[in-house]
Amino acid sequence: MMHLQDYDLSIVLVAVAIFLASIIFLLRPKKASNDKLPPLVEGSFFSIAPIFFSSRAPFFLLECARTYGKIFRLPLVPNGNFVVATDHKLARSILEDTKSEKPALLYQGFNAIFGGGESFFTASGHRWKHVRKSTNQAFAPKQKDRMINIVQQVLNKWINNTLEPKRNENTPLDFAIEMQLVTIGVIGRIGFDHELTQEEVGIIKDNLKVIYVEYMQRAPQNPLKQIPFTKWFFSGIREANRKSQQIRNILRNILEKHRLKTNPDQNTIIHMICNNKDYNSDDERIRDLFAYLVGGFDTTAYSLAWTLLELAKNTKEQEYLQSELLKCATSKDELYNCKALKNVIREGQRLHNTAALGSARQIGKDFSYGDCIIPKGSVVDCPFFVIHRDNDVFEQADEFMPQRWQKSSEDMLRSMLGFSAGKRNCQGQLVANVELMVILAELCSKYKFTVVDEGHVEYYVTLKPVGSLLRVSSV
Ligand code: HEM
Repeated sequence: MMHLQDYDLSIVLVAVAIFLASIIFLLRPKKASNDKLPPLVEGSFFSIAPIFFSSRAPFFLLECARTYGKIFRLPLVPNGNFVVATDHKLARSILEDTKSEKPALLYQGFNAIFGGGESFFTASGHRWKHVRKSTNQAFAPKQKDRMINIVQQVLNKWINNTLEPKRNENTPLDFAIEMQLVTIGVIGRIGFDHELTQEEVGIIKDNLKVIYVEYMQRAPQNPLKQIPFTKWFFSGIREANRKSQQIRNILRNILEKHRLKTNPDQNTIIHMICNNKDYNSDDERIRDLFAYLVGGFDTTAYSLAWTLLELAKNTKEQEYLQSELLKCATSKDELYNCKALKNVIREGQRLHNTAALGSARQIGKDFSYGDCIIPKGSVVDCPFFVIHRDNDVFEQADEFMPQRWQKSSEDMLRSMLGFSAGKRNCQGQLVANVELMVILAELCSKYKFTVVDEGHVEYYVTLKPVGSLLRVSSV
């Protein structure tokens, strides 16, 4: 007779076998015979997965592209058809193809982050479409002035409460952290018509870090953490789930308060989600609010922090931007549309795209590149970090050179995929662009930044400058 422990173990093993078999089944490509597949990077699942799901991933893929060429495969799935496409034309055509879908297996970590169950960010078909359609008005160009107003208010409050006191004390600031506080405040107001308390901001920022590391780095390397029955044995999973629940509680409160408002702002994401009758429950609504919150703050915060760090490192570029902004300071409209500012924003987005690993898609038809075929059904990752550093498109691609955009080629412009492309592109890009434009214009026209500590790079979900410190002085 089996001991209870043996019995438990055999259930686990059967579950693992079923899980692996489903991966093989789901990711099976329909490969025509005699097709030449892209080169396979040397190594095994066990040597490559720990790199792919680590902070080193963007740099590892850049190194692979410079060694193996613009498309290659990674041994991450049993059938070998996990392809990385770093040629911008190929990546764009994959992302824009209507048959390309988000691969469930790669995106399931987001479901866990948002509290289990599907969110519109990971779903396809009706579950995705009705949300995107019902919220589109919140991101329409006619909202731009409202967005600018809110960003100015949140920024001014932060300048008065934080930046000015630190400048007076000559104390350096960690802009990766500070910009998160600003962008959480902005998404709270723009998206949810809610002024987040300091406590709420602290919970969102600190909890997300723990949740991301668990669900996007640790869990993908451990099949037992993917199985509903076995995952609860792991304290990291239980902790991440508790922290996700705390954020969902905040969002539930915001949702309930919104419903009680007599005159709610109808331009907000929360209002549109509240009134969308296609939802089955408030749990679904809250998962989607979570997705908007996550999509909407650290991507933009780190883009701002990277750009300020590059300007602080490149004094000449900073001084040039300042002098051009001062020339444009006759009105806010002129200031925000300053050409030198646009070039700096674009270059920051190119060099340190925060969505560094880009978008992954399961392709619904065969694609070809040179003499290689990528068979229908393959999972293709398009890492923007690598695409934006293609030396064939950008001279000295690893350098911060905003003035390269003075004369931009069609190829350079088409390479810029930071907000992705196709039907699943970034819905919030207008919000992000307004934040970049207003915050960089206001800060760089009034202050000078010098590097105290460059810090180091980390990647999980987004590319971050960690521990970097800048000193601020008046222009
Ligand atoms: C510089 C800042 C930003 C960058 C670089 C960025 C980048 C991206 C990328 C690459 C995607 C595609 C993801 C994928 O294919 O897996 C995406 C999707 C998305 N982003 Fe952004 N984003 C930024 C800011 C924002 C903001 C401010 C919001 C909202 C307020 C937002 C909301 C979304 C949403 C809702 C989606 C999912 C759209 C869908 O699946 O239909 N993003 N973003």
